Amino acid sequence: MKYPPEPFRIKTVEPIARTTDYERIGIIQDAGYNVFNIPAAKIYIDLLTDSGTSAMSDNQWAGMMRGDESYAGSKNYFNFEKVVNRIFGFKHVIPTHQGRVAENLLFSTILKDTKGLVIPNNNHFDTTRANVEYNGGQALDLVVDIAKDTQAIADFKGNIDLKKLQALIDRVGPERIPIGMLTVTNNSGGGQPVSMANIRETAALLHKFDIPFFIDACRFAENAYFIKMREAGYRDKSILDIAREMFSYADGCTMSAKKDGLVNMGGFFATNNDELAQQITNRLILIEGFPTYGGLAGRDMEAIARGLEEVLEEDYLAYRISQVEELGDRLIDAGVPILRPTGGHAVYLDAKNFLPHVPQSQFPGIALTVSLYTHAGIRAVEIGSLMFAHEDSETGEVVYPDLELVRLAIPRRVYTNSQMQYVAENIIELYQDRENIGGYSIEYQAPVLRHFTARMKPLA
Ligand SMILES: Cc1ncc(COP(=O)(O)O)c(C=O)c1O
Repeated sequence: MKYPPEPFRIKTVEPIARTTDYERIGIIQDAGYNVFNIPAAKIYIDLLTDSGTSAMSDNQWAGMMRGDESYAGSKNYFNFEKVVNRIFGFKHVIPTHQGRVAENLLFSTILKDTKGLVIPNNNHFDTTRANVEYNGGQALDLVVDIAKDTQAIADFKGNIDLKKLQALIDRVGPERIPIGMLTVTNNSGGGQPVSMANIRETAALLHKFDIPFFIDACRFAENAYFIKMREAGYRDKSILDIAREMFSYADGCTMSAKKDGLVNMGGFFATNNDELAQQITNRLILIEGFPTYGGLAGRDMEAIARGLEEVLEEDYLAYRISQVEELGDRLIDAGVPILRPTGGHAVYLDAKNFLPHVPQSQFPGIALTVSLYTHAGIRAVEIGSLMFAHEDSETGEVVYPDLELVRLAIPRRVYTNSQMQYVAENIIELYQDRENIGGYSIEYQAPVLRHFTARMKPLA
């Protein structure tokens, strides 16, 4: 079966309200044409993010009732540690309340007091980049060039370019690279996977120069599933074995459990390095809490432990990846321009090609998110000029990003396939009517991270 069905049935439902076209026009106007400002109750299908939006299973909810809220040595911590250890294989497991805290602990420790350090990655996620830069480092994206071509079809468009990595080591010297990273799957590059060969070779290259190798593991199970399906020699291996092999090459990882932990909150840092683990634990106590809870309730750790087991189930992953793929295929069949191939957690509309008559200076991605909402009550996120365009510090000219994307991130186990069909049909309708979609200008913007709070206005 090309698109395997849901391997679960629904036991609890949450009603979602449908608004009228007329209501949505007023709502989006009040929101300053920025979907971040719309109350969630006024959204029909919310594809803003796949982070922290998963539906937990009955087994996870049952685990929450078994929460041991002891300050020190909660039994849930030991179960959580055992599961993380089994899958990821690292000796030290340090819970955090979400992924960016694991990043903060790592970078504030390894970049502290030293100028001129560089952290290479395939693509840094925004919070990873921000944590590197805030701590005085330089975050470099070294993804393979083919990743920048939205129409190029390749199995592993998330790979790091090993030649670029070697050139970086030659240029700055290994002593200025405290660690190298890979993000699996590559969220900022369209949710594209990284191959096992690339993980292995990245580790080998870094280790040749005694540079530790870390993985940003948020979507590790989705990445492992792509390896199973696409890379020679892995078809008969279990997801657990593939995941264990991925992490066997690494010295540690940061993890937001809000993705492949199948929970609404949580994360961890894990490593084999005793000294680093000790330093990070000391900082953890300062900013998050005691080492056996690190900012999480006992019940949260139990839910993560159970979620990490469930996410390895092949039926789940087959359904998960194919739900995203099916949405992508419906759009491709109707000629709608999307980033190809579809990634693991989201479909990315190519707004530049969707609305060729709207120049980047008029925010085609915003035009599309506004139209998606007013047309069908669907919330997506712009990943384009409102998020990334900036003035060149020397010339003062606006520098636009290469891509204008609109991300439709699919929450895990939340929407049915008929709701996905609704999404596809409405996007296709919009595409057929694209000439009537116009551009926007900015009415208000904050000095940093303006996309969250900007207020826009239609140009016509
Ligand atoms: C690749 C990647 N790394 C790190 C993070 C940060 O995780 P959190 O939102 O839990 O802080 C995210 C969140 O979306 C992510 O996608």
